[in-house]
Amino acid sequence: MSIFVIGGTGFIGIRVIPSLVARGETVVCMDINPNAPSFAGLGDKVTVVRGDVTQFDDVIGNMEASKADRVINLSYNLGQDLPPHRATKLNIIGMDNCFEAARILGVKHTVFASSLAVNGQQSHYGERAVTEDDYKHAVVQYGSHKAFNEFQAKDYIDKHGMTITAVRPANVTGPDKVRGSVDHVNIITRPARGEAISFPFADAMRCPIHVDDIAEVFIRVLMTDKPAHAVYSSGGQAISLADIAVIVREFLPDAKISFEKQSGGRASSGNWMIDNSRLVQEFGVQYRSYRERVLQIINEVRAELGQAPIKG
Ligand SMILES: NC(=O)c1ccc[n+]([C@@H]2O[C@H](COP(=O)([O-])OP(=O)(O)OC[C@H]3O[C@@H](n4cnc5c(N)ncnc54)[C@H](O)[C@@H]3O)[C@@H](O)[C@H]2O)c1
Repeated sequence: MSIFVIGGTGFIGIRVIPSLVARGETVVCMDINPNAPSFAGLGDKVTVVRGDVTQFDDVIGNMEASKADRVINLSYNLGQDLPPHRATKLNIIGMDNCFEAARILGVKHTVFASSLAVNGQQSHYGERAVTEDDYKHAVVQYGSHKAFNEFQAKDYIDKHGMTITAVRPANVTGPDKVRGSVDHVNIITRPARGEAISFPFADAMRCPIHVDDIAEVFIRVLMTDKPAHAVYSSGGQAISLADIAVIVREFLPDAKISFEKQSGGRASSGNWMIDNSRLVQEFGVQYRSYRERVLQIINEVRAELGQAPIKG
């Protein structure tokens, strides 16, 4: 048996796949962009095929050929930019293709990436951590599609008795992140490159979780036969951009980070207070400290530039 990963050559997938292989699993990855240099060295433990999640024949054909008993779908459009028809094909039809193929083939466990974006703005909940059972307030394309994916998963669970689990990552961070929320990444990587950077609001709030941590979350959930719940929030470090800047300056005292305004960004920051006790209790995940992760990102940029690492 192997694991079938859709959208596995992206930011999160290139961490998930080598970790699965390190645990002795065999992986078949289907992606519309099959080029992932990071799989070099994994030998015949990883097969990458080109396929389009919006095409049911691609999904079921490759899933069947993989003989997978576990499937994870990471393919998506991380933004609000696509025209409605294209976004629906990728985010909604693509996800349904994955669920339906898994149903037909009798896949044991299907996992997919939802998002903190299902919750919409923090102001709907007040100053408290949002749980998986809270009402979903998403109004934009990305968050609404994720909310519909969760509904669709529940429909398959209820009507077909499948095991499908959603993981809601918060703001995933890492030096190579280029899609989705990137201000909390650029505030670290640009100063590490010696570049100045400015943001509209110092009090804009984010909930970063390092990409290595979310990869571990996905793997623990995927490798469990029957998780107790259908939805898990990753949680992360609730922090303002101003406070990230303070951490960056601890390591890079000359960092040129500026803000146009000190306040006014909180209300439109999305959801940043997130309860992840369900995930922590069931899967025993422990994240490394955010400060440590900031230093890791700085040092990854420095390594790219041929500079010596900064000591923590
Ligand atoms: N990165 C984050 O901060 C974050 C936060 C919350 C949720 N998520 C979710 O996690 C998942 C993975 O995110 P990521 O950051 O790795 O994104 P990514 O954009 O780096 O990776 C997505 C992958 O999907 C592939 N893909 C796109 N269209 C496809 C298609 N039609 N058929 C097959 N493959 C296709 C892309 O080539 C890419 O490799 C997504 O569902 C995303 O919404 C990410």
